Amino acid sequence: MRKIIIDTDTATDDAIAIIMALKNNDFDIKAITTIAGNVDLDLATNNALYTCEICEKKIPVYKGESGPLYRKLETSKFFHGKDGLGDTGPYIPKNSAEKENAIDKIIQLINQNPNEIEIIAIGPLTNIAKVFIQDSSVINKIKGLYIMGGIGEGKGNITEHAEFNFWVDPDAADIVLNSNIEIKMIAWDTTQIYGYLDKDNFKDIEEIRTLLSKFSIDIQRRGLEYYKIKYKEHKIDLADPLAMAVMINESGTEYKKCNIRVVLKGEERGKDIIRFSEKGNIKLASKISRSNFLNTLKKSLV
Ligand code: RIB
Ligand code: CA
Repeated sequence: MRKIIIDTDTATDDAIAIIMALKNNDFDIKAITTIAGNVDLDLATNNALYTCEICEKKIPVYKGESGPLYRKLETSKFFHGKDGLGDTGPYIPKNSAEKENAIDKIIQLINQNPNEIEIIAIGPLTNIAKVFIQDSSVINKIKGLYIMGGIGEGKGNITEHAEFNFWVDPDAADIVLNSNIEIKMIAWDTTQIYGYLDKDNFKDIEEIRTLLSKFSIDIQRRGLEYYKIKYKEHKIDLADPLAMAVMINESGTEYKKCNIRVVLKGEERGKDIIRFSEKGNIKLASKISRSNFLNTLKKSLV
């Protein structure tokens, strides 16, 4: 079993990625840690707890940072809704978060399981940066770090220059990406090519007819409306589920090695500046199997 930590700003696509992880028999999820991003910290935590409950799994959830390292929090409620789950709730969990802080818990788990813990970060990188700042010795004891973030070789989704997770906390992203740890990064460019759901994909999911398939469609209704108005398309890009599908099964994924700096302020705030190099510590996904993504997603909703 793979020992996993999921760090998330739980909103609609995060919730689907969490379902994929919880339904994967090869994952021993040691902790879900929450970070402010799509929504504020309490809502992200609430949504993570609720998602675990509808999967009938008891996973410890730990609260992390309530905002970026040096900036004010700016959420994406305009897309994910006031509750972060498409405002189709109420989604009220029975359980509560653990008392321990997420940063301390991540450090403890890594030190207790040296070279066995794999982390997937599907929100702003504030918690991960704080872990590295608080105890830099853990950097060399992490088995794997997967990140959903950045524009890769494409354009941004929150500004034309930047992807949301890196835009919310560019300082944290720059610290983590330059912490001399191997990172597998799934960026917004590959999300738009391999990680979207169109009308036919939604129909396939509707035909699964389970609580989880219905939940995963309900929470995306608002996002779909947004795409219809903004892009005149019946589709939605699922960044976090694509990243989770790569972590679950990397077959069909190709990477390009690079180093990345993140622009910290100004009009290009959050932009990942990529320098391709065989010596780079970042493996940027350049090709991802769309069939693997769709099959892994659908299998998790039955
Ligand atoms: O840019 C995509 C990222 O921000 C994903 O993590 C998604 O949750 C969005 O809010
Ligand atoms: Ca997210």
